[in-house]
Amino acid sequence: MSPDAVAAALRAVPRRRFLPLRLRPRAPEDRPLHIGHGQTCSQPSTVADMLRLLDVRPGTRVLDVGAGSGWTTALLGHLVGPSGEVLGVERLPDIAAWGAANVARARMPWAREVPATPGTLGSPRPGGWDRILVSAAADELPTALVDQVAAGGRMVIPVQQRMLVVDVGDHGVAQVSEHGRYAFVPLVTDE
Ligand SMILES: C[S@@+](CC[C@H](N)C(=O)[O-])C[C@H]1O[C@@H](n2cnc3c(N)ncnc32)[C@H](O)[C@@H]1O
Repeated sequence: MSPDAVAAALRAVPRRRFLPLRLRPRAPEDRPLHIGHGQTCSQPSTVADMLRLLDVRPGTRVLDVGAGSGWTTALLGHLVGPSGEVLGVERLPDIAAWGAANVARARMPWAREVPATPGTLGSPRPGGWDRILVSAAADELPTALVDQVAAGGRMVIPVQQRMLVVDVGDHGVAQVSEHGRYAFVPLVTDE
């Protein structure tokens, strides 16, 4: 990933397009903004940090867990480009429908947001995902998501508010590194 690919994506996919109308004037604020149902559109500097840690390459396949407003799904769509694929999953149906419309307006048919399948964490895919971004905090590293990362792939996930980079090899987790503390809404894993 070129050093300023994330900065370019943030310029190309403005946050305001993924906020309710009344919140759009507040898009430049570097803080999470409440989008309803107790959920937030993430803080821009946190999104930038996570995307840099994820190291997304053009042409790769990315799963965005906790897609919410669709902003991260569209940012990932910009980073992977037309030869890649991004699937955003969101557990709250109302937010998923609104986020899906936001992503569709970004006109990147290779990126989309869908409602999460009840009882399934993430979205298992044959061969796994090259990258998984998780924008909600888990209590512990979810094995179900680790199993969805392709060999040689990476997941970025907050666990107990510590940002973890999980690199996966041929036989499961190869390395876990910690990258600071961040506040997130909880990842719901028991539905
Ligand atoms: C911080 S918010 C949205 C962040 C979003 N990526 C953005 O661009 O602003 C996290 C979202 O994760 C969702 N969520 C929590 N647990 C989930 C799960 N198990 N599967 C899918 N979405 C989940 C919440 O409903 C919430 O909308």
